[in-house]
Amino acid sequence: MQKIRIAVQKSGRLHDDSLKLLKDAGISIDNGREQLKATSGNFPLEVFYLRNGDIPQYLRDGVVDAAIIGENVLIEKGEDIITAEKLGFSKCRVSLAVPKTAKYTGLKDLDGTRIATSYPNTVNNYLAKNGISADLHIINGSVEIAPNIGLADAICDIVSSGSTLFKNNLKEVEVMLQSEAVLAVSPKISAERKEVLTKLQFRIKSVLRARK
Ligand code: PRP
Ligand code: MG
Repeated sequence: MQKIRIAVQKSGRLHDDSLKLLKDAGISIDNGREQLKATSGNFPLEVFYLRNGDIPQYLRDGVVDAAIIGENVLIEKGEDIITAEKLGFSKCRVSLAVPKTAKYTGLKDLDGTRIATSYPNTVNNYLAKNGISADLHIINGSVEIAPNIGLADAICDIVSSGSTLFKNNLKEVEVMLQSEAVLAVSPKISAERKEVLTKLQFRIKSVLRARK
């Protein structure tokens, strides 16, 4: 049987729970994140440890057959990629935030401002839908520091516990979307691998049912 190739976040908040899900599904994966690729000893599956933001392109190209990835990343970079299953972990929201001391009465206050974010497409779509235009500064991490160093008036980033916003004296003013980890599938998956994926999905479903 052909092995399916599944992408898992290399490091970050989805990594551990993604591997835990595979483990709970009875799939043993030998090494940790030392190598970028690992093979299961008891299921036809290979895990590729990849950067979050690169995963949509790998799926699109068919370099991997499936991925465990945050919905927020698919919304930002992979709207063409199919979601097979919501996985119930890594829940977060993608929100707009402004300095605690700033007066905020509504989205129109952000018109003409500078917004720092790692989610330019998501922000642009959201603002455009609401008839607002802003000057986006794209940053790949530590976005919440931007207002404090004078780089931006507002930020858009993932909020989970809210502690990063709190520590940086920011307040969440708009929730743009809710997100959780999902199983995403490559549009190029072969019929043979699709069969293996169906088996994996069946196992994942029973794990998720048992967790409820
Ligand atoms: C993520 C995200 C937020 C924070 C949200 O950053 O970018 O900053 O977590 O979580 P919280 O609401 O529980 O504080 P991460 O720490 O993963 O690092 P990065 O921004 O450098 O990628
Ligand atoms: Mg961050």
